[in-house]
Amino acid sequence: MIELRASDLTLRRWRDDDVDALLRAYRDPVLRQWTRTPVDSADEGRRWLEQTRQDFDDGRRYSFAVLEDHADGPRLVANVVLKGMTSQRPVPEVGYWTASWARGRGVAPRAVTALSAWAFDRFPDLTHLDLLHQVDNVASCRVAQKCGFVYRETLPARPPFPRDGHRHVLPAPGR
Ligand SMILES: CC(C)(COP(=O)(O)OP(=O)(O)OC[C@H]1O[C@@H](n2cnc3c(N)ncnc32)[C@H](O)[C@@H]1OP(=O)(O)O)[C@@H](O)C(=O)NCCC(=O)NCCS
Repeated sequence: MIELRASDLTLRRWRDDDVDALLRAYRDPVLRQWTRTPVDSADEGRRWLEQTRQDFDDGRRYSFAVLEDHADGPRLVANVVLKGMTSQRPVPEVGYWTASWARGRGVAPRAVTALSAWAFDRFPDLTHLDLLHQVDNVASCRVAQKCGFVYRETLPARPPFPRDGHRHVLPAPGR
């Protein structure tokens, strides 16, 4: 079982009983604007969780549910993912969202920092990680900066996202 800690946050694999919190998070139009796969119903939520589990087992994408400690038990606050672990794409990329109810408290920066440390530890041959966001996603650009990902270049728009994007890079420790 993989479990990562970052202050009062726990990162662990997504589970079937996260479906209600996943659906609540996906009701937010801001989150939907920046994700490729909307989750609109319990069926879609279950499929998302099944695919997420399969991708993790196959080593294609490593998605972690992020939970915050609360007096009445842990609460889902975010998703972070290491993606693009394929032979066609030499450099993996981090992705993330924070649920609307938990934004503005540094959840994504802390979770992405923990994910990046895990990635470099788990895959010692990695030279760096990529982080891509559309140019007008200012909040995401801030996350990149807070996690130490350095702006590297502006890339042309990549459908379904209509505008150019920034690529930020985090070198492996010691590189
Ligand atoms: C981008 C995102 C993950 C940031 O997560 P977070 O946990 O709120 O991160 P932070 O608390 O560090 O806030 C980052 C920035 O969000 C903005 N922000 C602050 N409070 C906010 C709030 N209550 N609501 C929305 N944005 C807020 C600020 O610009 C902040 O930067 P600052 O700290 O320099 O002021 C989150 O806004 C999100 O999930 N957006 C939708 C999905 C998305 O864009 N994913 C990334 C795709 S590349």
